[in-house]
Amino acid sequence: MFKSILKLNEYMKGSRFLYLIGGISIAIATLFSLLIPLILRFTIDNIIGDEKVDIHPSIDPFFSSVVESGYFDGKLWIVALIIIGVTLLEGLFLFLKGKYTAISSENMAKKLRDKLYSHIQKLPFEYHIKTETGDLVQRCTSDVDTIRMFLSSQLIEVARAIIIVGISIPLMLSLNRDMTYITFLVIPIIFGFSFVFFIKIRSAFKISDETEGKLSTILQENLTGVKVVRAFTRQKFEIDKFDKVNKDYRDTTYKLMTLLAWFWSVSDFFCLLQIGVTVVSGTYFAVSGTMTIGTFLVFITYVSMLLWPIRQMGRILTDMGKSIVSINRIEEVLSYEEERKEGQTIKPPISGDIKIRNLSFAYESGKDVLKSINLDIEKSSTLAILGSTGSGKSTLVNILCGLYDYDRGSILIGNSEMKDIDKDWLRKHLTLILQEPFLFSRSIRDNLLMANENIGEDRLVETTRIANIHNDIIGFNKSYDTSIGENGVNLSGGQRQRLAIARSLLKDSPIIIFDDSLSAVDTETDLRIRNSLSQYRRDQTRIIISHRITTIMEADKIIVMDDGKIIQEGTHEQLLEEDGAYRRVYNLQTATSEAV
Ligand SMILES: Nc1ncnc2c1ncn2[C@@H]1O[C@H](COP(=O)(O)OP(=O)(O)OP(=O)(O)O)[C@@H](O)[C@H]1O
Ligand SMILES: [Mg+2]
Repeated sequence: MFKSILKLNEYMKGSRFLYLIGGISIAIATLFSLLIPLILRFTIDNIIGDEKVDIHPSIDPFFSSVVESGYFDGKLWIVALIIIGVTLLEGLFLFLKGKYTAISSENMAKKLRDKLYSHIQKLPFEYHIKTETGDLVQRCTSDVDTIRMFLSSQLIEVARAIIIVGISIPLMLSLNRDMTYITFLVIPIIFGFSFVFFIKIRSAFKISDETEGKLSTILQENLTGVKVVRAFTRQKFEIDKFDKVNKDYRDTTYKLMTLLAWFWSVSDFFCLLQIGVTVVSGTYFAVSGTMTIGTFLVFITYVSMLLWPIRQMGRILTDMGKSIVSINRIEEVLSYEEERKEGQTIKPPISGDIKIRNLSFAYESGKDVLKSINLDIEKSSTLAILGSTGSGKSTLVNILCGLYDYDRGSILIGNSEMKDIDKDWLRKHLTLILQEPFLFSRSIRDNLLMANENIGEDRLVETTRIANIHNDIIGFNKSYDTSIGENGVNLSGGQRQRLAIARSLLKDSPIIIFDDSLSAVDTETDLRIRNSLSQYRRDQTRIIISHRITTIMEADKIIVMDDGKIIQEGTHEQLLEEDGAYRRVYNLQTATSEAV
């Protein structure tokens, strides 16, 4: 709790001053609203009635001298002007409060979102693997919003209630002690009832939120997977599933609304009871002459001013609990350590020499996915990796890109241990092309220029020609400026792969890794790409993972992986001599291609 408040104070850095102005404004506005009943009392008792009363002991001498001079006689309009003036001032300060709390809390929210976003960009890859994207999105949006709401309205409401109670009680006590006790007879019950009620129904709120979450998950999954749903003719099943959750949502909301209706009517009853008690006893005191009509009016106005915030307090206090949860959820993300430790890393020249020694790796302890890998990759050579699915090929190259940290064995890049190298520096020199590349919903040109913004048209076309995608691109409506995705063209799997290859070539790094990134193009295009690649940048070190022998047979070195181990190593010719997996795969693939 205390820690959360400290954190909140930290988030507010830079917005504190404006927030303070908002807080002062609400205090002044509240003071004005409490002042109006006092002015009315003064008017009714001193000017309309003929009973002279004190306005308030502290400011009494001034006012009573004015009244006694008979200044106000026949000049009631002055009082009317004063009331209008005070009301206008109250309005003005309410406006200032609204403005400054909104500005400062929106500023806080923006800064917090920026902080989260830039932190998330620097989190290690493993964090993203084990975290659900939806959950992370929620932390950046609705959790931040909960905190913003807390600052812009809940905290302000609490402050306002405290000011009203804190000022009206001594005022009322000074006006009429007995009447004050009566005015506060039912208020503690209302507060207690509201507080206990909202604590009790916290779970109902939570269940309702969760069911709403489930509803949107189902909706989202279905809309993204609409092809699969249709292909398996699962529409009926999916509609039924949605219907069930939709019903659950309706029922929980209905239950919640019933509970709330019950709450408002019971607390309405208590409020009216309190007003009733005040009116009856006020009338009694006024008639018996122990209290003036004006004072009676003050009590009636104050009691209605008190009741609304007190009735809301239970709701506000329980909602404040939600803000603490949100702060903790945000802190959980912010406290996760960033992958780059400034100052502890080095930036050596990277040319393409890689030496892997006794490298073992497990995602979950005890289950080794890589087992004692030893491998030398020479600068400017091409290494090919063949292996059954799940044998650890992608894992190996992901480690080389610094996406996962290794702690058993060693990887030397040039003469430096990879662990010591700055991750951004490493990735600048090393490009990984995935089997299912991610393209942004932007133009083709923007996607290509992601790697390097200062590339001229000639270079762009040269590269897309190497990746065999240029002809496809100029075939599109707006050529290189065609958008990809929802509001543009839909690219085929092969086109996406080739575009990703062009994008990676533009990065022009000394090491490039193809993780099965030609799997969706036909053998002929594959051959064309490889031919043009071999003409291009001969000094580049390349690692090619593929299931297709024709793709890898020209490599300088081929390794065959199985179950996390390298089981064969050599050139195409050497491996064909051996009686092993490589030859079996080769025979199988040439037999099928001959059969076709
Ligand atoms: N993020 C992960 N968390 C836990 N286990 C993983 C993770 N990624 C991969 N694995 C497991 O590690 C093993 C090796 O996976 P990897 O992706 O390296 O195989 P691969 O050789 O690239 O296969 P494929 O040819 O199908 O791409 C598999 O058993 C897989 O289930
Ligand atoms: Mg793989």
